[in-house]
Amino acid sequence: MKKILFILCVLLVVASIGWASGMKKKKLPPYEFGSVTINNYSQQSGMPPVLFDHWLHRQYATCRLCHVDIGFGMTAGSTKIRAVDNMKGYFCGTCHNGKINTVYKKKIFESCAKESGREEYKRCTRCHVLERSSVREEEFERFAEKMPKERLGNGINWEKAEAEGLVRPADQLEGVTAIKPRLKVQQDFSLKSKVEGMPDIIFSHKKHTVWNGCELCHPDIFVGIKKGATKYTMVDLFEGKYCGVCHDKVAFPQTDCSRCHSKPPQEK
Ligand code: HEC
Ligand code: HEC
Ligand code: HEC
Ligand code: HEC
Ligand code: HEC
Ligand code: HEC
Repeated sequence: MKKILFILCVLLVVASIGWASGMKKKKLPPYEFGSVTINNYSQQSGMPPVLFDHWLHRQYATCRLCHVDIGFGMTAGSTKIRAVDNMKGYFCGTCHNGKINTVYKKKIFESCAKESGREEYKRCTRCHVLERSSVREEEFERFAEKMPKERLGNGINWEKAEAEGLVRPADQLEGVTAIKPRLKVQQDFSLKSKVEGMPDIIFSHKKHTVWNGCELCHPDIFVGIKKGATKYTMVDLFEGKYCGVCHDKVAFPQTDCSRCHSKPPQEK
């Protein structure tokens, strides 16, 4: 009986995804999941658009470091990054400045320049690319091979990769991060599914805080004064709000129902 109800729920929700998104979403290959094309100014200045890969960067930095301290927006194209900002050491230039980085213990290639000779232009095309090269894809495959597997998204279980120490994203950079006392991590909780037979959702503050700190979610995504203060439904999530700000774009996608709806329904 429970099973039938569950299947009914799935059908209901799948129907509403179609309604919410016009069925436009297509499943991306694992190396493209979480990649962002940034092109507010590049093509109009005669440069190819910039391709930014989350899979590559989230091994080096937490979401918080980039999205709070460095200040990248949480929507593609929203930051309005200029070449001069990068050259002054902001945005990509925070790390891509050609200097020895004390955290990564290596030089990270420089970002934009006013002009470029033929040799330098090769560097430009590491970020400004017309088409994804097979070299990048192979790099991804080599990286993913060593990581714990997951069905969807990048095909990588990032939670496990972090817990097992396979990736150690930095949460602070000298001169960028204001050292503040850490807030006490909040308790994990479960959200009760409104539909009978649908497993409840377990939300782990502890696990989320590793990547996101607190500021990425509070107060912009969740007001978070009190559990239940923000009302949201699965349709909101499918439209890219609340949990859907991250899940589907960078964190594992929403088609992985059982990773969130993991708590068996209470027997009554
Ligand atoms: C580390 C990555 C990176 C590298 C390397 C890089 N750029 Fe950029 N560049 C960016 C980003 C990000 C933008 C903003 C893209 C956009 O919105 O169109 C940008 C924008 C630009 C723009 C747009 C005009 C403007 O005023 O913002 C120009 C021109 C430019 N870069 C030139 C260069 C040149 C020349 C090189 C090589 C010497 C280079 N860039 C290398 C990341 C990079
Ligand atoms: C090295 C820096 C960096 C790290 C680390 C990083 N991001 Fe991003 N993220 C960016 C940039 C740059 C953009 C594009 C912003 C723009 O175009 O204005 C972006 C865009 C996004 C978007 C919008 C994507 C879209 O298609 O609209 C989401 C959601 C996001 N990031 C979530 C995350 C999450 C979750 C993490 C941690 C797992 C993370 N980011 C880690 C730099 C980073
Ligand atoms: C928190 C630091 C940090 C920030 C911010 C950052 N990157 Fe990176 N990025 C790295 C590191 C570390 C590497 C690996 C470099 C290496 O192995 O030499 C890298 C590698 C890359 C590569 C791979 C190039 C190749 O040829 O292998 C690209 C492309 C890239 N970054 C683009 C960008 C763009 C575009 C931005 C800004 C939108 C950006 N990065 C912001 C740290 C950062
Ligand atoms: C990934 C997003 C996310 C992160 C990161 C996060 N929270 Fe929350 N937080 C939530 C959600 C979702 C709720 C429930 C809000 C609701 O249902 O309206 C919540 C609720 C809360 C509440 C109310 C708890 C209650 O029982 O009523 C507090 C306080 C809170 N968070 C503090 C923090 C602190 C402190 C941090 C960092 C250590 C943090 N949060 C990190 C998403 C997050
Ligand atoms: C600010 C971005 C962000 C938001 C908002 C967010 N998450 Fe996550 N979540 C992540 C990241 C990053 C991970 C690590 C796994 C990955 O990237 O695939 C994660 C992992 C998880 C996991 C797996 C943890 C485990 O036990 O292995 C669950 C479950 C989850 N999120 C549920 C939720 C729910 C439910 C919400 C909304 C109440 C939410 N998330 C909101 C970024 C976010
Ligand atoms: C990122 C975590 C996450 C994933 C993945 C996810 N859900 Fe949900 N789901 C939630 C949250 C959070 C709620 C709202 C809970 C509440 O009422 O507070 C919810 C609510 C629901 C509800 C109750 C009705 C409603 O709209 O609130 C149904 C049914 C549901 N989800 C079905 C699904 C199905 C089917 C999938 C897979 C296609 C799925 N969910 C994937 C987090 C998730």
